[in-house]
Amino acid sequence: MLSAFAASTLFLVSYPACHFHYPTTAYQGQGAVRYLYFFIPITHVVLAIVIVPMALLTLSRALRGRIERHRTLARRTLPLWLYVSVTGVVVYLMLYQF
Ligand code: HEM
Repeated sequence: MLSAFAASTLFLVSYPACHFHYPTTAYQGQGAVRYLYFFIPITHVVLAIVIVPMALLTLSRALRGRIERHRTLARRTLPLWLYVSVTGVVVYLMLYQF
């Protein structure tokens, strides 16, 4: 989990740096898939903001030995974190591969 957190932190630093140099890409798909597409990045962005304090608190509780409280929060943090991670890749694939 510490490695996952370190990897996510590196990504969080490199991602704005990348967008500083490259323009954003508009989604080209039309029809129903366009609604599906927008549902994914909107929920992705909202949850990506929410997950930062959640992950920090989950980590801090574990490192301070508050394991019961860590477990309670971690049951929500882990699935949300996985959703944000997977949908990030899905958005990339929808934008550049399909
Ligand atoms: C943000 C990072 C982390 C996440 C998302 C996470 C997630 C989880 C999850 C989902 C559980 C199981 C909860 C349940 O019982 O249903 C858990 C349990 C636990 N975690 Fe973490 N964890 C993180 C970081 C850490 C770290 C850094 C440590 C060690 C210092 C740690 C130590 C533990 C321990 C000791 C348990 C209880 C295991 C047991 O009851 O057998 N966690 N964690």
